[in-house]
Amino acid sequence: MMEDVRIGVVGYGAIGRHHARNLREMPGVVLVGIADILPSARDAAEAAGFRAFATSAALLDAGIDAAVIAVPSSMHEDVAEEFVDRSVALLVEKPLAHTMLAAKRLMSRCARAGVPLMVGYVERYNPALEVVRNFVADGNLGRLISMSARRVGVLPPRIRDASVLVDIGVHDIDIAAWITCARLNLLCAQGGMAVLEDRLDFATLMLDAAGTVVSIEANWITPVKVRELSITGTNGYCHVDYMTQVATFAPGQSFAPTSDYQELVKQYEEGTLIQLPVQKREPLARELEVFIEGVRGAALPNPGLALASLRIAEEATAVINRNSHAIVLANPA
Ligand SMILES: NC(=O)c1ccc[n+]([C@@H]2O[C@H](COP(=O)([O-])OP(=O)(O)OC[C@H]3O[C@@H](n4cnc5c(N)ncnc54)[C@H](O)[C@@H]3O)[C@@H](O)[C@H]2O)c1
Repeated sequence: MMEDVRIGVVGYGAIGRHHARNLREMPGVVLVGIADILPSARDAAEAAGFRAFATSAALLDAGIDAAVIAVPSSMHEDVAEEFVDRSVALLVEKPLAHTMLAAKRLMSRCARAGVPLMVGYVERYNPALEVVRNFVADGNLGRLISMSARRVGVLPPRIRDASVLVDIGVHDIDIAAWITCARLNLLCAQGGMAVLEDRLDFATLMLDAAGTVVSIEANWITPVKVRELSITGTNGYCHVDYMTQVATFAPGQSFAPTSDYQELVKQYEEGTLIQLPVQKREPLARELEVFIEGVRGAALPNPGLALASLRIAEEATAVINRNSHAIVLANPA
């Protein structure tokens, strides 16, 4: 019989509480407790039945094999270090750190200490995306021509230390690299600050992924929450709605020429959009399972891709900052 994995959650905020809830229900895992510097967060954890510690050191002293780091991104590196130094396996929330340099330092520290490290790119475990990724990998779309991702919605007031690209754009950059298995190159970027004054709150990027053109729109402005991905290949098209976990496929087809408008409309309506079977599930539960398997010795996803997401986010930010006055209406009249 395998021994239980003893785990702690650091940061009982918006996402930390979902980690804690899932871990409590997971077989073979003992959730030792949570650590949070905020008394109100500790009170909330205790009210939910968790043991709450005021410091990482106290959680470490309670004896853990693994930890989830769910503090604000700019604190990931500092908070994680103490755990690495005590050889505790880490699941660090995306985007690993707030800068590529900090992420690199954290990765190297874990590698030197032989500490397993996973980055919490939870969308990879969205069952609709997993289905489409396997479908694409099996060649069903042929050669990939383009991918288009939209991740838009209103500003989450709790995020104060990351731009829209570093906080949410990184999900789609990560997915583009993960699906195409290619090194990403930034082609162009535009964006700006519509409501915030200290960091980007809207951005659109165009990337090249070994011949596949990837466009990503991320903002905290659109009053409707959208999280979707479209992929077009030479043999068809797939669409993922991350929120409803619906995956669809349309095989490549040609429309018969017609001069009748109703006939034309009918052809589009009857276009073959097939829903791919998806076993709906909370993505975080699957992510945590993969992490626990890794703590037990299975191979973990390469944390190196997290660096690629931050590299592109940083390059795009630099381009946008340079271009921030470049949007000029050709003919404002
Ligand atoms: N994977 C996802 O989809 C997803 C979703 C949301 C957030 N996140 C990531 O999770 C991280 C946390 O985001 P959030 O929205 O939960 O933030 P949050 O502000 O809601 O919660 C952070 C918590 O960390 C605590 N904290 C701060 N410093 C600490 C320290 N030194 N030790 C212990 N606790 C400390 C705070 O008191 C707070 O309770 C961010 O990196 C964010 O990017 C990921």
